[in-house]
Amino acid sequence: MTARSGRHFLQIPGPTNVPDRILRALAQPTIDHRGPDFAELAMDVLRRIKPVFGTTGPVVIYPSSGTGAWEAALVNTLSPGDRVLAFETGHFATLWRDMAEGLGLVVDFVPGDWRHGVDPAVVAEHLAADQQHSIAAVMVVHNETSTGVTSRVPEIRSAIDEAGHPALLLVDTISSLGSIDYRHDEWGVDVAVGCSQKGLMLPPGLGFNAISRKALAAAEKARLPKSYWNWTPVLDANERGSFPYTPPTNLLYGLREALSLLESEGLPEVFARHDRHAAATRAAVRGWGLEVLCADEREHSSSLTAVLLAEEHDANKVRQIILDRFDMSLGAGLGKLNGRVFRIGHLGDFNDLALAGTLSGVHMGLQLAGVPIDPAGIQTALEALRA
Ligand SMILES: Cc1ncc(COP(=O)(O)O)c(C=O)c1O
Repeated sequence: MTARSGRHFLQIPGPTNVPDRILRALAQPTIDHRGPDFAELAMDVLRRIKPVFGTTGPVVIYPSSGTGAWEAALVNTLSPGDRVLAFETGHFATLWRDMAEGLGLVVDFVPGDWRHGVDPAVVAEHLAADQQHSIAAVMVVHNETSTGVTSRVPEIRSAIDEAGHPALLLVDTISSLGSIDYRHDEWGVDVAVGCSQKGLMLPPGLGFNAISRKALAAAEKARLPKSYWNWTPVLDANERGSFPYTPPTNLLYGLREALSLLESEGLPEVFARHDRHAAATRAAVRGWGLEVLCADEREHSSSLTAVLLAEEHDANKVRQIILDRFDMSLGAGLGKLNGRVFRIGHLGDFNDLALAGTLSGVHMGLQLAGVPIDPAGIQTALEALRA
């Protein structure tokens, strides 16, 4: 590997850049996870994570990636053969569907074009048709990280309510938590799935479930096999500031610091910053004469932007050139978008000049890859940032 000077630009949509304050917090000595200092740390983070989800209910923290927290949401609330309603919004929604099927659930998978979020009208239609109430849960990826499309969860909730349907609402907030407005209690979500390496600005390694009362009641009847993922022993142990297994102590130090960072900036300000950076990024993309993958103005993601290239251009080549020349990583096109899109992550620990640097790298990389762009595009973004 060639020696590089300066910081690598990690502009994939997660893992995101870890702030120095968090890196230093992670580097504290590991302590006895059965001692009083650990209990204090655990109680502190378990309490302070709740407002990030917009809940007053319990949040379970697993030493896991987001995929583990997906599994926990399903196995704690559902039984073999249960029907669930899911939507093909992109790569991650498809993977979650695959997991549900693998666990023995029957999935009604509504096809999608990977450019739109979940259509609340389609939710309403499916639930209205289910007179027997055989659908046990609706699964929604809030921010589809493969496409840069954010589904409108409050409208989905209203659709479920208007249909008078008792299905649980399970929402993947993996790339929205701590970067896009999400309100667990207010929006009536039953289980939210989160992880550490995106808006929380931590390394990978923590998975989360925020759990409603209705989900807790469902858990008493859920019969999918589970052991490690079982909420009950974790919630019991958490009451005393402990875990039923060895917890990831140092990641919890990092989480405590991340929560302090989010609290000192203020969640509304954090969301507004992400909205502003996303708008400036779209201004650049459109100014260059390129297409944003998200096809609905109401559904643009504030944590990432997926850029769709014309068929004759290879998005992976653009990414490779940008990595080689400018030491910046951009997100690849996933699944059927491989080679067609690249994704610019603008979430987590980020500011105006970091975005200006990111967009400059993309601008130069597109030119070096022979993708014709209007050079004024970057100017449009800088003006959006200045304003
Ligand atoms: C929306 C979404 N869901 C689920 C996952 C899977 O999470 P993990 O890779 O941490 O297991 C990801 C990963 O990027 C994601 O973006």
